[in-house]
Amino acid sequence: MALRNVNFNPGPAALPLDVLKAVQAEMLDCQGTGISILESSHRSKEFEAINDAAISLVREVLGLGADYHVLFLGGGASTQFATVPMNFVGDGQVAAYVDTGEFASKAMKECQTIAKVHVAFSSKGEKYRRMPAMSDIIYPKDAAYLHVCSNNTIEGTQFQEFPKTGSVPLVADMSSDIASRRLDFTQFSLIYAGAQKNLGPAGVTLVVIRDEFLAKARTGLPTIFSYKTHTDSKSLYNTPPVFGVYVMKLVLEWIKAQGGLAGVEAVNRAKKDLLYAAIDAAPDFYKGAADKAGRSWMNITMRLPSEEMENKFISDAKKAGLLGLKGHRSVGGIRFSIYNAVSVDDIRKTVAFMDAFRKAA
Ligand SMILES: Cc1ncc(COP(=O)(O)O)c(C=O)c1O
Repeated sequence: MALRNVNFNPGPAALPLDVLKAVQAEMLDCQGTGISILESSHRSKEFEAINDAAISLVREVLGLGADYHVLFLGGGASTQFATVPMNFVGDGQVAAYVDTGEFASKAMKECQTIAKVHVAFSSKGEKYRRMPAMSDIIYPKDAAYLHVCSNNTIEGTQFQEFPKTGSVPLVADMSSDIASRRLDFTQFSLIYAGAQKNLGPAGVTLVVIRDEFLAKARTGLPTIFSYKTHTDSKSLYNTPPVFGVYVMKLVLEWIKAQGGLAGVEAVNRAKKDLLYAAIDAAPDFYKGAADKAGRSWMNITMRLPSEEMENKFISDAKKAGLLGLKGHRSVGGIRFSIYNAVSVDDIRKTVAFMDAFRKAA
């Protein structure tokens, strides 16, 4: 088998090897059709079965009932930044946003192009290093919704609990931590997530919407931007990201085989504990970039004593088969994106590399 490196890319990111092998095995002949999934019609009965199975798996893995619609859309999470306010902010209404990072801020700015925004909390002035306490999040009780980004991919911070919003619908961008831990997903009225971190390849975005919330959606929007168009057609109004849905179904089956979210959560906990312990054990050399209380389980950010040393860390790591460690261009430093498909063994290897690198520096 070809050499497999440890993939710390922030997204598109590591996929489970078993899933890649299943894709490879079926690439030329998808389920006895004699054609590839890449060549298959989205109107075929084979794709319909894949689509239906993927919808059921999303509900099963996230613990959602039939009162949630499950959509597989194109356009990335960034399209949802605009589609959410287009559908859900009524005339004269305000939407509330929690500004905890670059993507949270992008979502908020997109809303500002079409509606009035209330900033419920912002840590921008602190370079997004910290997450809010629940009591820091303040918003009008008649807001159209409260939007949060559950995991800040660039800064390496994450919500460990979510505001209890009562009658205000809670909306979450979960692009970088969906399906990585157990959560009560029913506290959200709408969740969206680009697939390219924990769920599959780039090109498909998962959206789940509670029926009761959907009932409040605006009408009269351009057809393609209306959630109702997609909920009425099981995401088959136009050509969906067929390959992405197919791979997402395989990834969801893999998650189930790991023991569901309880299983992946246990592995993710072990991974982040190992990595943060390695950082904290050498505080004169490795410095966690995020405030400890808000640390992410998925994107672990750190600085070294100099940029030069960081660049050497990245290039030496690459030689050791550890790829994708450069921090986002807006913050610099090192970022380990340790999504579901990264194993505990991968992290052990990384911790050994960090130890050797520090001793040699
Ligand atoms: C939390 C979060 N939201 C949104 C996005 C944007 O996603 P996309 O590139 O699919 O539009 C990303 C991309 O990394 C992200 O991490």
